[in-house]
Amino acid sequence: MTDALLRYGVVISGGGSNLQALIDRSADGTIPGRIVLVISNEPGAFGLQRAGRAGIPTQVIDHRAFPDRASFEQALAAALDAAQVELVCLAGFMRVLTPWFVRHYRGRLLNIHPALLPAFPGLHVQQRALDAGVRFSGATVHFVVEDVDAGPIVAQAVVPILPGDDAAALAARILQQEHRIFPLAVRLFAQRRLEVQGSRVIIRGHEADAAAALINPLPDG
Ligand code: GAR
Repeated sequence: MTDALLRYGVVISGGGSNLQALIDRSADGTIPGRIVLVISNEPGAFGLQRAGRAGIPTQVIDHRAFPDRASFEQALAAALDAAQVELVCLAGFMRVLTPWFVRHYRGRLLNIHPALLPAFPGLHVQQRALDAGVRFSGATVHFVVEDVDAGPIVAQAVVPILPGDDAAALAARILQQEHRIFPLAVRLFAQRRLEVQGSRVIIRGHEADAAAALINPLPDG
């Protein structure tokens, strides 16, 4: 553990409700960290306004302004590195990243995905969960690796699928849990409690909570 506040960056493409949860939980001290930069690849992303309201520096790095994925990602990494971020959070960032970028931030790049990985990677996952007839879906925070929507899992939350659900209703129910587990994962990272062992994440200091993990995957404290 360290007293130093984690400097972290958040990369978005859209509404930024997960960004808002990270802003709020950093502001109230739940996360011992500070968002030092928010980047969006979409100029009109509402999340940019959320960051602006919170006084957080923002940058638009529009992927369409670059000839290829590699040069876009180099610009992204240059901005994040210039801000001296220790951790990068992908919060509704809708571009696939190349192995170069993933390796550049190995072990310090987190993504949130609106399904219980490894089930339903990719896009339109709420509709696909409904179509598959599963009774539960949820949200996953994981370290990013070269494969899309794979990588060591930090936190998950389960959400029931209810009669009459459509993709929007399910997405909204999952988002509520995303707003809980993304800040939790960042807090654990900031507390230096996450240790990747192969494909698994060990949470230091979590041993005593193993029994509670059966009903509540992660401790609140
Ligand atoms: C969230 O549901 C997030 O899990 C998902 O996009 C939404 C963004 O919402 N991310 C992905 O699908 C990544 N492939 P937000 O902008 O309100 O945080």
